[in-house]
Amino acid sequence: WKTLDQMDLAGKRVLTRVDINVPVENGQVTDATRIERIVPTVRDILDANAKPILLAHFDRPKGKPVPEMSLQQLVPALEEAFGTRVVFVADCRGPAAEAAAEALGEGEVLLLENTRFHPGEEKNDQALAEEMAALGDVYCNDAFSAAHRAHASTEAIARLLPACAGRLMEAELSALERALGDPKRPVMAVVGGAKVSTKLDLLSNLVERVDMLVIGGGMANTFLAAQGLGVGKSLCEHDMTGTAKDIAAKAADTGCEILLPRDVVVAREFKAGAESEVVKVEDCPEDAMILDAGPDSVAHVKELIDRAETLIWNGPLGAFEIAPFDAATNAAAAHAAERSRAGQMVSVAGGGDTVAALNRAGAADHFTYVSTAGGAFLEWMEGKTLPGVAALG
Ligand code: 3PG
Repeated sequence: WKTLDQMDLAGKRVLTRVDINVPVENGQVTDATRIERIVPTVRDILDANAKPILLAHFDRPKGKPVPEMSLQQLVPALEEAFGTRVVFVADCRGPAAEAAAEALGEGEVLLLENTRFHPGEEKNDQALAEEMAALGDVYCNDAFSAAHRAHASTEAIARLLPACAGRLMEAELSALERALGDPKRPVMAVVGGAKVSTKLDLLSNLVERVDMLVIGGGMANTFLAAQGLGVGKSLCEHDMTGTAKDIAAKAADTGCEILLPRDVVVAREFKAGAESEVVKVEDCPEDAMILDAGPDSVAHVKELIDRAETLIWNGPLGAFEIAPFDAATNAAAAHAAERSRAGQMVSVAGGGDTVAALNRAGAADHFTYVSTAGGAFLEWMEGKTLPGVAALG
């Protein structure tokens, strides 16, 4: 695929697919990371004397206009981030959008309405893609985090105009390539989260590609149960223990070292400050829940981090939303952050709850790269082709 540097931009209308699907509460953006991360692309387009015309989805309106899901509410946050006027138009195609694109002044940015207000968006509809393409001369995709969706604004449209990747798309892909495509070894992955069933493809792909795999969070309980250990009242997918065994067997074949907790923090209730104790994994009481990895396990994870040249992190090691069950995630993340900051390791994190967990641990700033993507990060790590990237050629 091409980058902005390879495109002739001067005087052109650059239809730029961004992901500004940010959390909003009471009309206020509560985490502007995704907005901040598209600023370099918008600035580079403006600096090339071209017109940035932003195409984006917001939330899941299911193919019809939903006022609370209008992108208009993001105009103030975008203006602040870009330092320029953002003109909004209440459709992503049609005469009003065409007129607004034509009339856009120098240095201004045009924001089109939520692409998912049209049913054709999620169907990757050719006619809708053509109507959107009519608004631009060049297509730039800067929405890595939406690239796992084959939608009209991410896939079909890329085939209709000269297309390129934006700066954030470039950064995301090169970070992922460094982590798993052509990494410095040994490579270590930390995969946590509630369920094995949602991360099956990820675990299967990683055991073939990484040297060390730490399994944490609720999904570790399923692996412990697969070894015949009692997990009390813990979150556990008992019907997935066969699958967990298969993954462990595959890891043994490929030479990937799997690390499961050796000790765990258990409690009778899942609430802030609940009374808890540390027990060996063999000794989980029948009436208790495993809510975090214990100190021995954390020490072991830190040892592996010290050996790793590359780290991929997805998902928390425990029930990190509530103290004290965030301790293992915090300690391991802080250790990885320290090693990354010292330039001893390349560390890449992304997917779902991961960024929230690393932010809570105060570690995100020191990771080599923190992806803005949830589902797209996982699919890339699963070894899948992302349609939005593939369409860029
Ligand atoms: C995300 O928030 O991960 C992306 O914006 C994709 O959103 P979606 O899961 O609604 O397609």
